[in-house]
Amino acid sequence: MSERTPVGVLLSGRGSNFLALETAMRESRVPARVALVVSNRPQAAGLARARELGLATVCLPHGDYPQRRAHDEAVVAELRRAGVEWVCLAGYMRLLSADFVRAYPQRIVNIHPSLLPAFPGLEAQRQALEHGVRVSGCTVHLVDEGLDSGPIVVQRAVEVRDDDTVETLSARILEQEHVAYPEALRRLLSEPWRREGRRVIFG
Ligand code: GAR
Repeated sequence: MSERTPVGVLLSGRGSNFLALETAMRESRVPARVALVVSNRPQAAGLARARELGLATVCLPHGDYPQRRAHDEAVVAELRRAGVEWVCLAGYMRLLSADFVRAYPQRIVNIHPSLLPAFPGLEAQRQALEHGVRVSGCTVHLVDEGLDSGPIVVQRAVEVRDDDTVETLSARILEQEHVAYPEALRRLLSEPWRREGRRVIFG
């Protein structure tokens, strides 16, 4: 098998995107391995699942640090110690400081439950419903210093139904997230690509 890139996964909650990535890596659909799972919340279900899978984990509660920068420094130190080369944010509900982004330039990926640049930030699915869009979806993007603002890698669209609730729409978007995230990481790690302005261009 070709070289597998050591990836660090950062999560704050359920961890279903982490599991979709980990499964794709284990099945060799993505040429990578999970080198470390980091959570800022001790009670995150994703963290417990990672431990069950026998993966290396670390929990760094953000409340233990005086400011974002100090917390991010601790996270980056753990990632470096584990030899992490790429970072996947998987429901990591923290903005990254500029120093964090600079520590892994163009090597941090995030998934967001809307078709960016529409509905950045919290509760993207609720924002989409309240706005009345007929189509929403998910976006995998490279992380820059802004809020959900980095160059887009993969998007998948989901139709909004008249009877959708936040829960039903979120569930259908989540299904597409689990397809989009492994696909985006696979392409970033195995295909030539370049960034042109805001665009990620493959080939
Ligand atoms: C996912 O829907 C992800 O797109 C979203 O949090 C959920 C995490 O679920 N992320 C954001 O809203 C980031 N702005 P998961 O823990 O089951 O992967």
